[in-house]
Amino acid sequence: MQVILREIGECAVRRAELADLIPVMEINMKTLPEHYSDYFYESLLAELPEAFLVGEIKGKHVGYIMCKTEYGFSNFKKLGFVKKGHVVSVAVLDEHRRKGIGKGLVEEAINGVKSKKCDELYLEVRCSNNDAVILYEKMGFIIKQRLKTYYRDGEDAYLMAIEFES
Ligand code: ACO
Ligand code: ZN
Repeated sequence: MQVILREIGECAVRRAELADLIPVMEINMKTLPEHYSDYFYESLLAELPEAFLVGEIKGKHVGYIMCKTEYGFSNFKKLGFVKKGHVVSVAVLDEHRRKGIGKGLVEEAINGVKSKKCDELYLEVRCSNNDAVILYEKMGFIIKQRLKTYYRDGEDAYLMAIEFES
């Protein structure tokens, strides 16, 4: 059964299902230079369905977010070993931006990773991607590191992270 997590204007946010993966891949192709194999999408959906979400307007997919969980060193606590959520990819179709859909997807993904007992959530973003950096900062993410030549084309990434209250 499809449960709507929230509505942002006309856009309904809900968990993704297998049938959503092709539309998600299409949005990814249109919006980002980083692409992934079919298998990778399927494995993220199997691993963390709580934070693999789609936004839909009148049955048309307009955005997605997909995440995974990892164990590793904290981005906040010195020498702390924690369970972290990792936003692998988030995107909204150009024609539906600035309606709050991106923010809604990230907020619902935060709820998803929190429900899996993650202490933090982090992501990498191109240093030139102002729209995304502003969105993440508005939501409380902090730039923790600059990752040199992180992307295949040589651009640097910011590692941004948010810590949850325990
Ligand atoms: N200029 C300035 N501020 C912006 C912009 C912009 N173009 N876009 C978003 N923001 C800020 C604003 O503060 C905005 O609030 P406001 O509209 O009330 O001022 C706030 O972020 C929330 O914006 P949303 O409307 O929720 O964001 P949107 O639905 O437009 O999605 C997103 C943002 C996902 C970054 C979109 O621009 C996009 O898909 N870009 C292309 C793909 C991409 O870069 N994805 C992120 C890559 S990093 C990663 O995936 C881990
Ligand atoms: Zn990443």
